[in-house]
Amino acid sequence: MTILGLESSCDETSVSILRDGKILSNLISSQHFHKKYGGVVPELSSRAHLQIIAPLFKEALTVADIDKKEIDLIAATAGPGLVGALLVGLNFGKALAYSLDKPFVAVNHIEGHIYSGFLMDEKPEFPYLALAVSGGHTLLLLIEDDLNITKLGSTIDDAAGEAFDKVAKMIGLGYPGGPKVEEYSERGDRSAIKFPVAKLKTEYDFSFSGLKTAVLRYIQKEYPNIENIQEADKSDIAASFQDAVVRALRKNVEKAINNFEVKSISLVGGVAANKAIGNMFSELSKKYNKKLIIPDTEFCGDNAAMIAYRGGKLFENNIISDLTANTYPALPKNVFKSL
Ligand code: KG4
Ligand code: ZN
Repeated sequence: MTILGLESSCDETSVSILRDGKILSNLISSQHFHKKYGGVVPELSSRAHLQIIAPLFKEALTVADIDKKEIDLIAATAGPGLVGALLVGLNFGKALAYSLDKPFVAVNHIEGHIYSGFLMDEKPEFPYLALAVSGGHTLLLLIEDDLNITKLGSTIDDAAGEAFDKVAKMIGLGYPGGPKVEEYSERGDRSAIKFPVAKLKTEYDFSFSGLKTAVLRYIQKEYPNIENIQEADKSDIAASFQDAVVRALRKNVEKAINNFEVKSISLVGGVAANKAIGNMFSELSKKYNKKLIIPDTEFCGDNAAMIAYRGGKLFENNIISDLTANTYPALPKNVFKSL
């Protein structure tokens, strides 16, 4: 089966072709121009997707060395994400499905991230735990099979990636901040400043807004004139902040490993590229003898291969969409089961 995947939920346009689970092409065009605005500008994002998607599709066919008539299924991200951006990929996919007379399936972006682990040679084994950490989401999920996904917890305020981006901004590291904070952390002392981990009443939820405020207060107190901050100070702040994020994520993941019978643990989403978080997962996998799946960096961030893979699984389970499929900006309430 040959599946075309389309992803355009934020600032990456991606087109991928999978054949029988193997990646024939996975092209990603990133909108780097948002950097100068300090964040993604929605309208500019939509326009850039619109400009690139058709040429990228043609290139994906060339790289995969197939004709468009060989496509059996078209899968596109419907949400969550920026609606104007989503509309581009979703509608391109629907138009292709209509003109090629092929089935179409609208895919949830988070489900795509969860399934990115299946793009690796070592695949997750059901039931498994997935921590999905991105710029917009922090979710801890129990995946029993393709159609039974339970949300154990999520962030009650900022997403982990958002906290990385905001802290990076505070110490002048630019956007997107996650990779920069990680780079500075490597040169810093993670025990230099003791930043707090939120204590919540719910067992598996997360909160990063208090941590973000603690970092801001620390900076305001120690560096009333931010120009005086040295590179070494930035490194210590980055390392101490990153360590607090690792501790916060570890607490809930370890609790879930102890409370649910799982075979694998998987770390997915843009923030999964972070090595300190990856090392924490690797430690937990050894401690509790669980199979560990962390996608290669190319598949941690937004990509269409994960959308094609998840779309294929939905199709196998007889779930297809019709051409009225719409976009959605936020995660719909009942998309995952709750505890
Ligand atoms: O999944 P993604 O590409 O897009 C969303 O769906 O949000 O995630 C992007 C997020 C950004 O917040 C970025 O700063 C963060 O992932 N990120 C990282 C790292 N690489 C990307 N955060 C921490 N460490 C990294 N190495
Ligand atoms: Zn994403």
